[in-house]
Amino acid sequence: MTDNNSPPGSPKVNPDHNSEANPLPKDDSSLENIVRRFQDSMSLAKKHKFWETQPVGQFKDVGDTSLPEGPIEPPTPLSEVKQEPYNLPSPYEWTTCDMDSEETCNEVYNLLKNNYVEDDENMFRFNYSKEFLRWALRPPGYYKSWHIGVRAKTSKKLVAFITGVPARIRVRDEVVKMAEINFLCVHKKLRSKRLAPVMIKEVTRRVHLENIWQAAYTAGVVLPTPITTCQYWHRSLNPKKLIDVGFSRLGPRMTMSRTIKLYKLPDQPATPGFRKMELRDVPAVTRLLRNYLSQFVVSPDFDENDVEHWLLPTEDVVDSYLVESPKTHDITDFCSFYTLPSSILGNQNYSILKAAYSYYNVSTKTPLLQLMNDALIVAKKKDFDVFNALDVMHNESFLKELKFGPGDGQLHYYLYNYRIRNALRTSELGLVLL
Ligand SMILES: CC(C)(COP(=O)(O)OP(=O)(O)OC[C@H]1O[C@@H](n2cnc3c(N)ncnc32)[C@H](O)[C@@H]1OP(=O)(O)O)[C@@H](O)C(=O)NCCC(=O)NCCS
Repeated sequence: MTDNNSPPGSPKVNPDHNSEANPLPKDDSSLENIVRRFQDSMSLAKKHKFWETQPVGQFKDVGDTSLPEGPIEPPTPLSEVKQEPYNLPSPYEWTTCDMDSEETCNEVYNLLKNNYVEDDENMFRFNYSKEFLRWALRPPGYYKSWHIGVRAKTSKKLVAFITGVPARIRVRDEVVKMAEINFLCVHKKLRSKRLAPVMIKEVTRRVHLENIWQAAYTAGVVLPTPITTCQYWHRSLNPKKLIDVGFSRLGPRMTMSRTIKLYKLPDQPATPGFRKMELRDVPAVTRLLRNYLSQFVVSPDFDENDVEHWLLPTEDVVDSYLVESPKTHDITDFCSFYTLPSSILGNQNYSILKAAYSYYNVSTKTPLLQLMNDALIVAKKKDFDVFNALDVMHNESFLKELKFGPGDGQLHYYLYNYRIRNALRTSELGLVLL
């Protein structure tokens, strides 16, 4: 991509674990450094014509500790929220995408399959499945009106998309109703026409109509202003395929057979009582997760309905495992990952990269390292090619030891209309967006 877009979870070319690829030194990824590096890379400090008009942390305010934490703007009376949609360029019209409809779901699937996020070298593109999209877009209390499409008036072809889903997000002691914004996509042929700002304003308007005034989102691009910047790490499960398709490289002084041996995993999980999560586990998992997430500065405020939706296993969408103590039958540990394949662009032999993404993991009795090694083992058994994880929560404690290698892109986390005084360390973030 020409705009240095290395967005959410974009597949990355990762050097093999032992090829001496170092992650960015910790200090380099501080917010001040990111902003400075970003601005240095421009001949003039880049202006954000759209984002400068929005209630988000502005670059000029970075480091100003006199500004209060919390909402940047107060809510406006609902009667003052604009009642009509924003204007689109005249060849286009708004559509609300009914994800219950097989036909609409297909259209969304195909728009994203052909136009959504790619890595910097355009070798891979996210290929969210239809079942995944239905899961991601229909959590408890979702609003159909927040699944927004743009069609060409004459052909009715779907050419752009943006979504929100409601979530309660805790920031320190405050639980805030927010929209999680995702799947912003403009057809390749309609890029750079300032359609994205109109889509963002329209989803914001529809969020306001539900009396919600804050949002959370991620992007691979630097915008004003990240609350934290994370890095993706990748654990090869099928190193031969990853090397064949250019996702990773053979390390120096490594042969294919040594590499395969390096990443080999046991056939079965090691932890006694490790099993798939079931419906009856929802109350115990909710307690475990709520207690665990409370230590982070920003995290979702999950109740049992949320846990049932987001974490109960759904085939080819989300996998969750837990440890039930063989003695007490207490649920002591939990791990989960979601399924997000990428299309492999222009490879003769392979068209799909099957990737698992670490989701929420909780260890109280089983060491996190052992728990995550068991997660790798079940992911391998399910035929995933790679297991990806962000350096959020306690993930840094297992990444290197379990042979994850750092990816080459960054994922920035943002809040809309909510100021955080200082950027967070990635380990202070307890939120994974899809
Ligand atoms: C992201 C995408 C929709 C932007 O559309 P575009 O045609 O490139 O850009 P437009 O001319 O419409 O709009 C540019 C404005 O959108 C902003 N923008 C670009 N990407 C953005 C993102 N991911 N999130 C929020 N704003 C974004 C730009 O910063 C710019 O605003 P600014 O002048 O204030 O900086 C488009 O490039 C796309 O579909 N890319 C592939 C999918 C993707 O990366 N989606 C985003 C996932 S986070």
